[in-house]
Amino acid sequence: MKTIKLGIVGLGTVGTGVVRIIQNNQQKILATSGCQLQIKTIVVANLAKQRHIDLEGIKLTNQIADIVADDEIQIVIEVMGTIDPAKSYIEALLDSGKNVVTANKDLLATYGNGLITHAQENHVNLLYEASVAGGIPILRTIATSFAADQITSVAGIINGTSNYILTQMSENELTYNEALQQAQELGLAETDPTNDVSGKDAGYKMAILTQFAFGVTVPLENIFVAGITQITKADILRAQKWGYVIKLIGQARPVDDKLSVSVEPMFVRKDHPLATIKNENNAVLVTGSSVGEVMFYGAGAGELPTANSVLNDVLATVKDLQLQQTGAKFNNFSRTTDLLVAQQQKNHYFLTLVSKDDSRVTITSNHHKHQQTLSKQKNDLATELSYQTKPISVQQFRTMVEKLKGTEKLTITAAYPLLD
Ligand code: NDP
Ligand code: HSE
Repeated sequence: MKTIKLGIVGLGTVGTGVVRIIQNNQQKILATSGCQLQIKTIVVANLAKQRHIDLEGIKLTNQIADIVADDEIQIVIEVMGTIDPAKSYIEALLDSGKNVVTANKDLLATYGNGLITHAQENHVNLLYEASVAGGIPILRTIATSFAADQITSVAGIINGTSNYILTQMSENELTYNEALQQAQELGLAETDPTNDVSGKDAGYKMAILTQFAFGVTVPLENIFVAGITQITKADILRAQKWGYVIKLIGQARPVDDKLSVSVEPMFVRKDHPLATIKNENNAVLVTGSSVGEVMFYGAGAGELPTANSVLNDVLATVKDLQLQQTGAKFNNFSRTTDLLVAQQQKNHYFLTLVSKDDSRVTITSNHHKHQQTLSKQKNDLATELSYQTKPISVQQFRTMVEKLKGTEKLTITAAYPLLD
């Protein structure tokens, strides 16, 4: 029986989950890999912090050099997050011949290509399944099970925190702040949750997902990103009234012969598969020209689901070590294509408008698709209309909204892109 020694950098939500799974599932790990995993050293920031986990036999340190210089450690799990100093830590680990498994989407989306090359030059693995959609094994599935198919679109809910907040606001009457606090207490949110609610975290994940699905490296400035901070309870109720739910949707798809990548809150029809995804769960809907639509669903954040994805990468590396074939890229698909600039992403938009008198309103716009008087608000005699545009860009949409705001007879009550 061979023992593989591990180092871990970070012992927060995910790091703790990794330790727990290794301790609880030794027998299964041995049966499936033929090896025993032994955690030798864990690097943390604060040595004085109380840890609610059994660390007997494990060295706790605040010095990355304790792992970098240890020739016995073959695989290192980076779950400390953020870019600095995680990037320099990982570079030092790769240079010292260690295989690295990470959950760090910020880093992979921003410096992924350089780090992947760095790993290849050192003939070691750099795997990052947990960086996208937490417990859903989406990256390896796309890399292996779609290898012969042409993916034509990817759409998903890929931030657990924002989906948790939207679900709690819509179903449990929680305020935005109350729901965010709960997401933090549950270990779903980033240490600083700004990126979760601004859409940036999902933007990072879309960059990685797009690389796997379309073989294309997307600079972050090409991804249109909007978050959930401006969504009000009134928006959520209005969406429900018109047969929709509001979800933060990440999408990558061809538009006008270019690849469009976006993250934004959208109106999603109540009967759409993505409308049913609640709380911290994520789902990724992949469309392949041969296979059609396939949806992957599961916990998108949280201690054990994320740690499970980390351990899948660890065990894939154990296998590569046994076969002496470390150093292959996680995803081999690579091609070039034109990318749409962020402000040119196109959507159908759904607007609800209140007419201040009871007359039918005519909206003069080239983008007018249909107009209906759908409900009358009896109290103030105002009539609420819905209006769905043809596919228009973010810029065209903003111009249209400004024009409508100048119409004295109308008030815009909600304006959101529609998920097709
Ligand atoms: P936490 O904030 O819970 O934990 C971070 C850990 O990193 C802490 O143990 C902290 O030490 C340690 N740390 C911070 N700075 C340093 C440093 N300079 N040197 C050494 N250790 C340091 O984060 P999470 O576990 O939630 O997330 C970890 C990573 O996993 C992030 O990249 C995150 O984006 C990603 N991820 C998280 C998911 C989740 O559900 N939470 C899901 C998917 C990915 P100390 O304990 O001493 O403060
Ligand atoms: N903060 C992230 C989320 C963790 O809420 O989805 C998983 O990447």
